[in-house]
Amino acid sequence: MKHIHFDIIDSTNKYLKENYKTLEHLTIVTANYQTHGRGQFDRIWDSNQGENLICSILLKEKSSFDSIKTKLNIVKYIKSILQTYNIQSSFKIPNDIYVKERKIAGILIESEVIQDDIQYVVIGIGLNVNQRIFGNYPATSIASETTKEIDLVQFTNKFIQGLYKLV
Ligand code: BTN
Repeated sequence: MKHIHFDIIDSTNKYLKENYKTLEHLTIVTANYQTHGRGQFDRIWDSNQGENLICSILLKEKSSFDSIKTKLNIVKYIKSILQTYNIQSSFKIPNDIYVKERKIAGILIESEVIQDDIQYVVIGIGLNVNQRIFGNYPATSIASETTKEIDLVQFTNKFIQGLYKLV
């Protein structure tokens, strides 16, 4: 299991998609900042530098390609982490986690199919941790909800350890 961390990258999902052939199953990429972070439906995923969890995982083994199951496990996992901060959250179809009317996390699942064969699945997760100012977008973060700043490095490392167990 390999973890690659970038200070700045265009998109952690894009990195895994472009390099999946040479990377091993369960490679995780994290970053402090994405210049072209992407959300579902080709939307932009904007996240302040060094404030939030930005993470993607590469799945290459067929047995792990049940992305619906994995997605639901990841949603449950994120909800349980939020619960430890006393934050009640809810899942919103297709891939969002909300605290009341504000989005706190999103998941982007991408894959490539060649001749009916899935080559890989990349699961990208954006979870707002310390960001408090979101412009006009109705979003929130763990810090906004609890008024406490979180050690992002520690949080990310713990998050990754739990993530490996889900896929
Ligand atoms: C959404 O809510 O629309 C999904 C957001 C997914 C954002 C994450 S951040 C890490 C990974 N890299 C990306 O470019 N997007 C995902």
